[in-house]
Amino acid sequence: MGELLNGLKRTCYCTDVNEEMIGKKVTLMGWVSRKRIFSHFDFILLRDRTGVIQVVVDESVNTPEVLAKDKELKSEYVIAVIGTVRARTPENINPKMKTGTVEVAVEELKILSESELPPFQVDEKVDVSTEFRLKYRYLDLRRPNVLKNILLRHKIAMVARNFLSDNGFIEIETPMLTKSTPEGARDYLVPSRVHPGNFYALPQSPQLFKQLLMVSGFDKYFQIARCFRDEDLRADRQPEFTQIDMELSFVEEDDVMSVNERFMQKIFKEVKGIDIELPFRRIPWQEAMDRFGSDKPDTRFGVELQDISELDAIKNTDFVVFKGALEAGGSVRAIVAPGLANMPRKQIDQLVELAKTYGAKGLAYIQLKEEGLKSTISKFFDEAALNSVVDAVKAKQGDLVLICADKNKVVWDALGALRLDIAKRLDLIKKDTYDLLWVTQFPLFEYSEEEGRYVAMHHPFTSPMDEDLDAYMAGDVSKVRAKAYDMVLNGCEVGGGSIRIHRTDIQEQMFKLLNFEKEDAQERFGFLLDAFKFGAPPHGGLAFGLDRLVMLLCGAESIRDVIAFPKVKDASCLLTEAPNVVEEKQLKELGIEISPEVAEKNEEG
Ligand code: AMO
Ligand code: AMP
Repeated sequence: MGELLNGLKRTCYCTDVNEEMIGKKVTLMGWVSRKRIFSHFDFILLRDRTGVIQVVVDESVNTPEVLAKDKELKSEYVIAVIGTVRARTPENINPKMKTGTVEVAVEELKILSESELPPFQVDEKVDVSTEFRLKYRYLDLRRPNVLKNILLRHKIAMVARNFLSDNGFIEIETPMLTKSTPEGARDYLVPSRVHPGNFYALPQSPQLFKQLLMVSGFDKYFQIARCFRDEDLRADRQPEFTQIDMELSFVEEDDVMSVNERFMQKIFKEVKGIDIELPFRRIPWQEAMDRFGSDKPDTRFGVELQDISELDAIKNTDFVVFKGALEAGGSVRAIVAPGLANMPRKQIDQLVELAKTYGAKGLAYIQLKEEGLKSTISKFFDEAALNSVVDAVKAKQGDLVLICADKNKVVWDALGALRLDIAKRLDLIKKDTYDLLWVTQFPLFEYSEEEGRYVAMHHPFTSPMDEDLDAYMAGDVSKVRAKAYDMVLNGCEVGGGSIRIHRTDIQEQMFKLLNFEKEDAQERFGFLLDAFKFGAPPHGGLAFGLDRLVMLLCGAESIRDVIAFPKVKDASCLLTEAPNVVEEKQLKELGIEISPEVAEKNEEG
């Protein structure tokens, strides 16, 4: 039911009320968070998006009408309160509350809206399952934890808009219904009714449009852009997510990196009050992989990878696993887990299993126990050989040495993951520290086992480094490095970009190296290649993952916690139940038929 406002205006938010307002009349509106009933009066905790304040209904002073309405109040009722601010009595002061020294003595009360019993307690920190929280996300969003993240997200977006606008960037929207873009994930497709059998792709990023805008002469562009990628979800991945996307003309790597360092500095200052030192460290990709086993290294702790392939004991071994890896062009590398020599077998097995999830076929280890060395590979290496490994990796008594042999990529991935796992076990990462750096000089290409060919590591418009241009033009792909850079915050890739190719000969060579037929390239990116014929300025850019940035600045565990209406692991929305089966009529209009097997499954499910 609910009463009408009838012209009643709110005078302030709940937590605006303070001691200076004692004696003043206020009108507050919000939700009943909790109600405590005493013999002669009731305390109501009133909540709005800023927080809570205590309002008091007193039997000895309030009118029968107010008292009757107060009796009706239950959790999550929406009310308006007119009353006078007063100091709490000393025994009632609550130092944990922002408004803990004051309260509002109710004079008039309106019930604006009633509420059914909510499926979970909104105000309490009780654990509620993720499924439940997301099904009733609008209630979940009333809870301070999620609410605070969304507010911080707004703040970061505003700092971004202001900073970029102040620095000469122009915000321009680009289409959602478009053509496949080159980021390399699977596209979300949208069927066209007007062109049956034809599909739009939702953008994986505004990449091609922002390059077109450079050809147009906009010079500096930005957009807080929604991107869509049909890929497996993880804690830092959603099928639709948001980028702070930008592109600049007449720039080189340093220009793009420097404006973005200042941008990040501004965000940290405004949002966290933290001063970030510039410039950020730059770690070439090769070094990042060799030392940390990751292109997004967390450098807040050691436990670095060490290459022992060249050690006599390793290089001359007959142990097939190591020998085979080396002969195949791979490596043998190790990390030292400090003080973990006596790790129980069960936990070591977990480490081995973790390594295997990254493709490792096994994991060798040496335990430096008080009573002596113990190793899984002592069958293949004598004590002197094992000791030479221990010396080489500078392990001490009490340490555990983990060794992996395989193709470089597998060794990096496995030891890189183990390194993070060990840091967690040993609590090596200090809370509230921020580790910002660039990874640079990425390989331009990476070999795709799946496709049996080289693919662009970033995307096919990324420029090779000038130093490597000769090798590139000669078609010697594996060693060519790119003018690409990723910004890494606490071991998470928060942004990435590159200087683009603006010369036709270099672009044509790229398509050739990627095995694109000329027609193929024309079919997919023809509009961009055509545009480049009409005067393309040298240009480059970068995109931040806004969700990831907010997640890290909030200290959230998952980007789900910083998105108002996120999707779950199977890419569905528990609130709206999207995606759903549509009507036959709609499908007919689109010229689409669902295969009988799928239709049957849908009926069952
Ligand atoms: P890239 O593909 O590296 O580059 O994306 C840029 C940033 O977006 C974030 N990100 C994601 N966040 C959440 N969920 C996802 N599924 C997801 N995928 C990516 C990451 C990443 O660093 N057009 C280029 C940028 C450029 O070259 O200018 C691009 O999209 O934080
Ligand atoms: P195996 O003879 O295959 O059982 O291997 C003997 C030991 O070698 C195992 O217990 C592991 O400790 C180690 N091992 C196996 N594969 C690897 C690998 N790829 N890298 C490092 N160590 C390995």
